[in-house]
Amino acid sequence: MYTFPDRKGRSLTLRPEGTASVARAYVEHNLQAGPRPLKTYYIGPMFRYERPQAGRYRQHQQIGAELIGASGPGADFEMVTLLVDLFTSAGLTGLRVLLNSVGDAACRPNFTAALRDYLHGHLEQLTEDMKRQLEMNPLRILDSKDPRAKALVEGMPDIRDHLCDACREHHRTVRTLLEEAGVAVEEAPRLVRGLDYYTRTVFEVQHGGLGAQSALGGGGRYDRLIEEVGGPSVPAVGFSTGVERTLLALESEGVALPAEDSPEVAIVVAGGDRERRAALLLARRLRRRFRTEVDLLGRGLGRQMKGANKLGARLVVLVGEGELESGHWTVKTMESGEQASVADAELETRLTAMVGGGEDS
Ligand code: HAM
Repeated sequence: MYTFPDRKGRSLTLRPEGTASVARAYVEHNLQAGPRPLKTYYIGPMFRYERPQAGRYRQHQQIGAELIGASGPGADFEMVTLLVDLFTSAGLTGLRVLLNSVGDAACRPNFTAALRDYLHGHLEQLTEDMKRQLEMNPLRILDSKDPRAKALVEGMPDIRDHLCDACREHHRTVRTLLEEAGVAVEEAPRLVRGLDYYTRTVFEVQHGGLGAQSALGGGGRYDRLIEEVGGPSVPAVGFSTGVERTLLALESEGVALPAEDSPEVAIVVAGGDRERRAALLLARRLRRRFRTEVDLLGRGLGRQMKGANKLGARLVVLVGEGELESGHWTVKTMESGEQASVADAELETRLTAMVGGGEDS
């Protein structure tokens, strides 16, 4: 946790993640009365007081999604595929999808007991960290990456041998659905993830280009969290992704991100003061609908055209004496070089059609 005293000596902690906040918001604002299941997302900075290294920072940015109010495996399926599809649509390949079940209140205690028994039999091999976890949350020891504990971890009991029938069936259905959707999942019986609220499904998407911090995103089911923060008993499942790690992965694959901020329209002025004023007014008008640029440096026509090209503008609207006299704008499509004369009253409609898709911006 990133904790520090403020000026009055009060202890403050910056949020390490978003799921608990969503659970509290659900309770505080009675979101149970709204649509079911509730689908929600968040984007924002999270803080963890960790030793910084490549892909691990004290402040990172997460995109998270939570689906609240559905207990069946279909909800888990939707969240895993949404996470995978997010990465795939960004252009990533080389993803590994790890899946496990950590059981529920009925079967996890059996597994925890078996794990404790095993670890008590190997106390001399435990690191200091592991000894602490042994009493608090022995499950965490399962995915220990400590090389000194490798042999020990390999010999640990397998959670799959301890799941109750309901959890085993839930897990099997999630996995089958994913396979039917063509998502190659790997069973990861050691995957427990670092947060304590999970029940049943946990999953993680990893990428080879990231080195030690290989998790691009992850999540799982947390059927008891909302009740634990004072709300009703409502099941939920969700994930979050690290934006910086996603960018690192994209970079390692050489995927160029689209320059979405390039202007749709560049206004180019040919003339004097009157035309420049008209161009500024036209830019203000078009900005309601289009990403628009206009020359502010008093450049000549040729330099303005070069500038529009460099910015990647899709369309150029020419503002010259002839246009002002006739009330028709000259619109040039940069890619094809085609020109059209467009009546003032039709300008927005025609530009919308010409930029394609007609998206407002
Ligand atoms: P998490 O696995 O702790 O899950 O974090 C999600 C993602 O945030 C990680 O996969 C990683 O990409 C990124 N991340 C975490 N810590 C750092 C860091 N120090 N530096 C850079 N990136 C980092 C959660 O936070 C859960 N709330 C996910 C969830 C949502 N479970 C259910 N719903």
